[in-house]
Amino acid sequence: MAMRVVTVVGARPQFIKMAPVSREFERVGGDEIIIHTGQHYDYEMDEVFFEQLKIREPDYYLGVGSGSHGYQTGEMLKRIEEVLMREKPDLVLVYGDTNSTLAGALAAVKLHIKVAHVEAGLRSFDKRMPEEVNRVLTDHVSDYLFAPTETAVKNLYNEGIRKGVYLTGDVMYDALLYNIKIARKNSKILKELGLKPKEYLLATVHRAENTDNKENLKSIIEAFVESGELIVFPVHPRTRKYLEAYGLMDKIKTAENVMLIPPVGYLDMLVLEENARKILTDSGGVQKEAYFLKVPCITLRERTEWVETIEDGWNVLVGANKEKILKAIKEFEPNGEIYTYKFGDGDASEKIVKILVS
Ligand code: UD1
Ligand code: UDP
Repeated sequence: MAMRVVTVVGARPQFIKMAPVSREFERVGGDEIIIHTGQHYDYEMDEVFFEQLKIREPDYYLGVGSGSHGYQTGEMLKRIEEVLMREKPDLVLVYGDTNSTLAGALAAVKLHIKVAHVEAGLRSFDKRMPEEVNRVLTDHVSDYLFAPTETAVKNLYNEGIRKGVYLTGDVMYDALLYNIKIARKNSKILKELGLKPKEYLLATVHRAENTDNKENLKSIIEAFVESGELIVFPVHPRTRKYLEAYGLMDKIKTAENVMLIPPVGYLDMLVLEENARKILTDSGGVQKEAYFLKVPCITLRERTEWVETIEDGWNVLVGANKEKILKAIKEFEPNGEIYTYKFGDGDASEKIVKILVS
């Protein structure tokens, strides 16, 4: 009998990560039930990815929504547990490092259901980041750990996790390879925004260490404005909220060089990334996509779990330091010859599903 898998997702990057894996499950006739926790719920943070990536409707929508870490994770835990008790799966599949990831893993392990973690072993070694806590805890209760990179395998090894670890490559690379051609053909975003290839920078900011700290967010916004460069900035709802709360919205709206837009769908995002001269971001996924697309990346964080992109010189860490951001916008250039890491062969999803169904 086919293994019964429950997939738990809830946030934007998880919809992107699950898409190639669920497609593969379907292809091999696997038995997959999808739970959406409701962590992200705005159309442009949620549904647009189901539409564009052709992910089928979730079987369960838990509608947890926003709240403090304890509230959000706790509500998810309760509601996921109810579904797991009803569905009795053989395995729960979780992705990445959000509260939805941790809640899914915890709910499963307490019911003695096996846990598989896609994107296992990533570490920033900074436990003040909520993502780090979610990753470490999830890895330590997982039975199958699908690591995207050798570094991730080593990190797990160093924490004593040696069984159940598989180096598969990165499912986000699979997603990008599958969608980039579709994006190039169908996206009209450059025309809509009046942009020319390589004549703008692309920025995203949403991590707690930048948004929940007025000084950091102010410093980043001032760097954007003072750079004088045309910066396209799709704004995460969390960031919008804090820009308003800190009284920074006017500064950015009146700046002629910063183009504030709502979050964009995946296909538009790929096109915006590929055609940007440089990318400024604190996102994990966007750092990798910049590397895949060979676009120089300036990371608005002190640490990153995607160390390969730094080692190869395609990415530089500048934190929220205004002077460093401005310097990198002006001067940072990768040595384009070096491109050591592949993050897999674009078949990570296939490998993962093969392991799970065998
Ligand atoms: C979450 C993840 C983060 C990931 C990010 C991807 C955790 C702890 N953090 O951060 O690791 O990088 O998703 O985007 O899980 N909001 C809306 N509409 C939405 C979703 C959120 O308005 O559809 C607003 C709410 O005000 C909410 C805030 O954004 O309070 C933050 O949302 P939340 O899901 O708590 O965390 P993210 O910052 O999205
Ligand atoms: N993304 C998107 N539209 C946006 C911003 C990001 O489609 O407006 C995509 C991006 O291409 C990447 C993923 O969302 O695939 C990254 O998610 P996010 O930055 O929200 O979270 P993180 O990776 O930091 O956890």
